[in-house]
Amino acid sequence: MTATADLVTASDSMIASIQARIDRAIDDLLASLPNPGELSAEERRGIIARYTAVLEGNFIYWMTGAYLSVGSDEARAKIIDNLREEVRDCHPGMMRRFALAAHAIPTDADAQAIYRNLMNVRLFIGRLSAVPIVVTMAFFEGFIQRFMAYLAELARRQGSAEMEYTDVHGVCDVTHTQELFRALEAEMALAPPMPAKEMFEGVELLRTLIQNIVVDN
Ligand SMILES: [Fe+2]
Repeated sequence: MTATADLVTASDSMIASIQARIDRAIDDLLASLPNPGELSAEERRGIIARYTAVLEGNFIYWMTGAYLSVGSDEARAKIIDNLREEVRDCHPGMMRRFALAAHAIPTDADAQAIYRNLMNVRLFIGRLSAVPIVVTMAFFEGFIQRFMAYLAELARRQGSAEMEYTDVHGVCDVTHTQELFRALEAEMALAPPMPAKEMFEGVELLRTLIQNIVVDN
């Protein structure tokens, strides 16, 4: 293995290949989801509860970490738009109402089930390394958007009709995605080339956490 062969630098084709790798990781996660019809009520509750335990208190925190880490105006503008919407429309409150209506408020055991994998993502964010964080948040947002139909289905099967959270987050916003990857390009122009392993470290940690949301292990 050579150290230089796998270095990633900013260019249109490089951004496209990063986006393709993120899309593939999301596809794999979605393909691994258990069929909602084959889950018990407790398994459905557990998935919603662990998802809530991760999202409610961490999304704005991690997006803030992204804001603190970046150096380009493009990235700052993109992230601040996201943070403004999160705070103004009270997305943590929306998340809580969703869990409450599905009888899936996280318990101590739910928090414990994701503790270690959640901590690994927190420590990664704390290093404030711009490019890996922006890549991770692009993966996170892309996953959330495509996960919403599944999450809503679990909630429906729990007897809930409270779908504001999944409705708001399930919208496919092509412009938003394009801006996000433009922000990534701007950050990559500021950073020295890095190995792919380093660039996708947060994606791997977050993927492990999401797998842990789906299956309590
Ligand atoms: Fe949100």
